[in-house]
Amino acid sequence: AGTLREAAEGRLLVGAAVMSRRLDDRGLATLVAEQFNCLTGENEFKPAPIHPQPDRFNFEGADRIVAFAQAHDMEVIGHTLCWHSQSPRWMYQGPDGEPLSRDEALRNLEGHIDAVMGHFKGKVVGWDVVNEAISDAGDDHLRNTLARRAIGHDYIVKAFELAHEADPDAELYYNDYDNEQPEKREKTLRLIRELKAAGVRLDAVGMQCHFRLDEPDAPDLLDRAIAAYAAEGVKVMLTELDVDVLPRRTRGADVVTRERGGADPYRDGLPPEVAEAQARYYARIFEVVRKHPGVVTRVTFWGTHDGASWLNSFPVRGRTNHPLLWDRDLEPKPAFEAVLETL
Ligand code: XIL
Repeated sequence: AGTLREAAEGRLLVGAAVMSRRLDDRGLATLVAEQFNCLTGENEFKPAPIHPQPDRFNFEGADRIVAFAQAHDMEVIGHTLCWHSQSPRWMYQGPDGEPLSRDEALRNLEGHIDAVMGHFKGKVVGWDVVNEAISDAGDDHLRNTLARRAIGHDYIVKAFELAHEADPDAELYYNDYDNEQPEKREKTLRLIRELKAAGVRLDAVGMQCHFRLDEPDAPDLLDRAIAAYAAEGVKVMLTELDVDVLPRRTRGADVVTRERGGADPYRDGLPPEVAEAQARYYARIFEVVRKHPGVVTRVTFWGTHDGASWLNSFPVRGRTNHPLLWDRDLEPKPAFEAVLETL
């Protein structure tokens, strides 16, 4: 098979996150339609862009992604309904920044979920109901978000209940980053058990998989975490896969900035040996995926070509990253061949 979607046919969803305006680019649109069978809106379905004010919705970009997907026989993933970032303040906070009452915040969350899921009923196969709710450190397994401060510890259960009521046919996912790491994996298992105990529908755990070439143990940890989640009876999706090639540490305080030098070494292109190392890294990830058939049901890349990746501006703006399968000229990289062979 010459394309990812052909290679994955009938077995696996292979997706990409796209920004709707990038679909104006004919070359990119062709590549997306040929290679993938599944799309995620990179920003378009998030609470702030789609529901900026209590009585204002903006479905344009998201509708565009849905129309493109339908035209090319692709599934659409809804990302995301409840998140501490890219969410409008009015949803959980009063005018002076104080948390809304539980009832007010729950009404807002319900209104949001009903309207957005209702709009896409039958067009979106599943939703990241809650994104990134688990804490990075400390005993408290949940992040202290605005939604939690307003609604209470059970806001995640509530969000899943509301989502299931809004569209009983939609799959419902819990999505997070670093959840292959043992500490966060254990917290995630705890959350899964809480959700199960509350009797809510939970189809899959989304593992973002923002990996780094200089973190070689992540694929092994991924393997173990997938097995642990599967043992709880949920499916697993790799939802935001990319492999950062730039030298930096994101955990801990010593993020290397451009100012400190040496942090943008591949401005003029990715050296062949690094491209090969990245290809091997991707192959390793897809070997892990292959070990869990029927458990890992989707792999979505967070972007298409290297120039379109969020990692060119995160955590430091204006660098030249190369995390994806195609280069800036839309030429396939060694990583593409590796994924295609391993899939
Ligand atoms: C990122 C987008 O890629 C950027 O365009 C935007 O500026 C910020 O958000 N985890 C997530 C995604 O769940 O929604 C984030 O997407 C990347 C990290």
